[in-house]
Amino acid sequence: MINFVAIYIYIRNMAIKCIGILTSGGDAPGMNAAIRAVTRTAIYNGLEVKGIYRGYRGLLTDEIIPFQTNNVSNIIQQGGTILKTARCQEFREPEGREQAYKVIQKEEIDALVVIGGDGSLSGARVFAQEYNFPIVGLPGTIDNDLYGTDTTIGYDTALNTIVEAIDKIRDTASSHERLFFIEVMGRDAGFLALNGAIAVGAEAAIIPEIWTEVDQLEELIKNGFRKTKNSSIVLVAESEITGGAIGMAERVKKEYPQYDVRVTILGHIQRGGSPTATDRILASRMGEAAITALMEDQRNVMIGIQNDNIVYVPFSKAIKKDKPINRDLLNTLRILSI
Ligand code: F6P
Repeated sequence: MINFVAIYIYIRNMAIKCIGILTSGGDAPGMNAAIRAVTRTAIYNGLEVKGIYRGYRGLLTDEIIPFQTNNVSNIIQQGGTILKTARCQEFREPEGREQAYKVIQKEEIDALVVIGGDGSLSGARVFAQEYNFPIVGLPGTIDNDLYGTDTTIGYDTALNTIVEAIDKIRDTASSHERLFFIEVMGRDAGFLALNGAIAVGAEAAIIPEIWTEVDQLEELIKNGFRKTKNSSIVLVAESEITGGAIGMAERVKKEYPQYDVRVTILGHIQRGGSPTATDRILASRMGEAAITALMEDQRNVMIGIQNDNIVYVPFSKAIKKDKPINRDLLNTLRILSI
């Protein structure tokens, strides 16, 4: 029997004419710069572009419009994502993905560019495999937790936001001679906490990578984190396991009542704001590379950057492996906070 679906997929893959683009999961500064770069590179190369709104949800509900170059004018400097974003439960189910595929066929989209974090790229991977559909991913997350890329779109801006906020907290911390636990994002990765701590001259960072190895709070107190200073700043990666900054402060209040402790949760402020030049350039390069990759017949890869070179990272690697944190940085932080 002739398999018409297989023939359709084969013919469709022969020539990509129309690219769909979406942003998914937590937004990250620089996503707009990436949308702009993907759109303009595609049009430059004679391809059509369709903007898909609200991530995978927009694929299911057909919230899709054709994009011209002026749809992405004046957005390179804007935080957030003009395409909106969502976390879509339905896309996790086969029925949801089937519906998405129907919409893709109806819209005559031949390939997708997905900008998002590990959850979004996991969804892309499953869909790409199920329907043999060409997808290229861009790492868009402030957490910097995707394997195979030195950095992700949004990470640099978030780090700078953290630094700006904590510089202000330091003023009051030192005036009142207090100990501040400052919670930053990064559920499973300590990049923001550790590099943020070095950048603000904090006493320590409590990060997920070594939670199971040592009691970081106990170590800190044992080593006398006050040292020669009269105020202290400790960055804590958010966590349901440790309770984040609130969890740390509660323990200190109970176990070391001599300290005057305060907590600040930086929260979603870290996700907003105009992207830094570094993020704009990164997003622009990666956006252009996504289209080049599709034209080179690359499929199911994430665009990464390694030593300033664009690389293609298979989805399976980007999302499966834990990206290691540079443990030398823990030592740097320890030495510089004496
Ligand atoms: O994955 C990016 C991220 O910013 C995480 O650091 C954070 O835990 C999560 O998103 C918060 O998501 P939401 O905005 O859905 O609460």
